Amino acid sequence: MDEEFSLDADILYLNHAAVAPWPKRTAEAVKVFAEENHRQGSVDYPRWLNIERALRGRLQRLIHATSADDIALVKNTSEGLSLVAYGLPWQDGDNIVSTNQEFPSNRIVWESLRDRGVQLRCTDIAGDDPEGAIVAGIDAHTRLVSVSSVQYATGLRLDLMRLGAACRERGVLFCVDAIQSLGALCFDAEACHADFVAADAHKWMLGPEGVAMFYSRPEARAQLGLVQYGWHMVERAGDFDRTDWKPAASARRFEPGSPNMLGVHAMEASLSLLEQIGMPTVEAEVLGRTSRLVEAVLAEPELELVTPRDAGRRAGIVTFRFRGRDAEFHARLYRQLMDHRVICAHRGGGIRYSPHFHTGTDVIDEALRLALELARDAN
Ligand SMILES: Cc1ncc(COP(=O)(O)O)c(C=O)c1O
Repeated sequence: MDEEFSLDADILYLNHAAVAPWPKRTAEAVKVFAEENHRQGSVDYPRWLNIERALRGRLQRLIHATSADDIALVKNTSEGLSLVAYGLPWQDGDNIVSTNQEFPSNRIVWESLRDRGVQLRCTDIAGDDPEGAIVAGIDAHTRLVSVSSVQYATGLRLDLMRLGAACRERGVLFCVDAIQSLGALCFDAEACHADFVAADAHKWMLGPEGVAMFYSRPEARAQLGLVQYGWHMVERAGDFDRTDWKPAASARRFEPGSPNMLGVHAMEASLSLLEQIGMPTVEAEVLGRTSRLVEAVLAEPELELVTPRDAGRRAGIVTFRFRGRDAEFHARLYRQLMDHRVICAHRGGGIRYSPHFHTGTDVIDEALRLALELARDAN
């Protein structure tokens, strides 16, 4: 797969948890689609629809959904979560259980329901039993548990099977922001009893920004009121003269108008690569790289690991700090690393490296060596 990635030679790319570089086939698909639009417009629209169908099929297989009808194509993770937040029929006094490590997409949307009398409970998941803490936050007024499968700053991976089973047992809906795991780890929406799953394409799925997946289990979908309307979300879309419309039974009901066909072409190409390699292989390669990084961090007395040490608690994110150093030091180190073309992030009070399956081990080793060297030079 080496021919699929040809980053500039001076770049050490360790930022798949933010925005990933595209594979060659994705760049090609976009170029071909642009040229086609330029030369013949939408003459081949039926072919475009086939690509869209293929994308839904790939997403269905990626998350092990029972049907492609359960997949809606939306703009981003935040939009998917908003469809849940503004679709559920809340009652005064309801609460939502989440965690204290969430990216703002999975916090702000729930906080915005405060005016409706809905409370967000952010459970502390820093301890040894994060799932236990989340489940302990559930009470008789809990309608929904919403968590990230992998936390963006610490890289903590939650046990979705355990959480999903606990929600199911208690009659609570289970919503997963899966953007930090889809495309990096195997995912089974059925097995973990997820009711809703949202994820944009631009991280581990290696696609563009602005096109995302929103999964809804049929029984859970039926509980969501609609917040957007248009020609495309009705059962008989395309039958423009019909006045007695009803929303599509499938997740297309969440797609009010024309699709992001450019994004669809790009995302379909990216997922074709992941599917060709196979997610079990991708996952093993990602975990192998993060384990290498974790071991290297643990071997350096100056460093402390922010990411959990336990391999089962990790995905593609490794965050580390220099012991005894403050936030300003890490902010400066981050800028220096970026100046040295180590593409990374400043998260969790430290430096976040996030390699994908294709990242060379030499890239990982060199990026860590550079971080240590720059930190020593700063003394
Ligand atoms: C856990 C998590 N959720 C959501 C997002 C982004 O959401 P959106 O797709 O709405 O931009 C990020 C981006 O860093 C993230 O880490």
